[in-house]
Amino acid sequence: MKFFIDTANLAQIQEAHDLGILDGVTTNPSLMAKEGIKGYDAVMQHYVNICNIVDGDVSAEVLGTTFDDIVREGEELAALSPKIVVKVPMIKEGIKAIRYFSQKGIKTNCTLVFSAGQAILAAKAGATYVSPFIGRIDDSGHDGLDLIEQMVQIYDNYSFQTQILAASVRNSLHIIKCAEIGADVITAPLDAIVALLNHPLTDNGLAKFLADAKKMS
Ligand code: G3P
Repeated sequence: MKFFIDTANLAQIQEAHDLGILDGVTTNPSLMAKEGIKGYDAVMQHYVNICNIVDGDVSAEVLGTTFDDIVREGEELAALSPKIVVKVPMIKEGIKAIRYFSQKGIKTNCTLVFSAGQAILAAKAGATYVSPFIGRIDDSGHDGLDLIEQMVQIYDNYSFQTQILAASVRNSLHIIKCAEIGADVITAPLDAIVALLNHPLTDNGLAKFLADAKKMS
């Protein structure tokens, strides 16, 4: 399973990269705005800065909602780096644009996916990644992991090449469950990734080893 970090914060991206387990980055307009990135040039430069840190794919979201705008923005983003994955919303114009990008060899991430039907359309259009938002499904009173299971089954049935990128991951249990189910990728905030390290028996065990190590010197 690939690990992506879901942030536009350069320090957190660097920290995850330095852990040695980072396979890519996802961003969205909310995450970019949170970092105070404003204006076309600053936005483009920020994506370049992210690409300079990571070795893997970097999702950069288009802001337009018409086919022409999505294609224009997506081509500008893709020209920044071969690492860029054009993130396109799950709307009719988005599906058309994903098909277009797929035929041009431009990688895509179909975002804001909340149903199996949407996931089928994204795969049929040739998306590189599809992003079901499991945390937001949980927020609505349903189980986001059920959708991941359904998608894994459907994609397996037809050997769809689109990679299931579990997004809106909120905690380490989400990550573990996605791994059990067989999501191809998770994207999570740094704290959810780092929380995988934690176990009180590890802390207690290490404290005891360190105490005993002093007796050896
Ligand atoms: O990758 C999509 C993600 O950023 C959405 O997360 O926590 O805003 O639902 P959240």
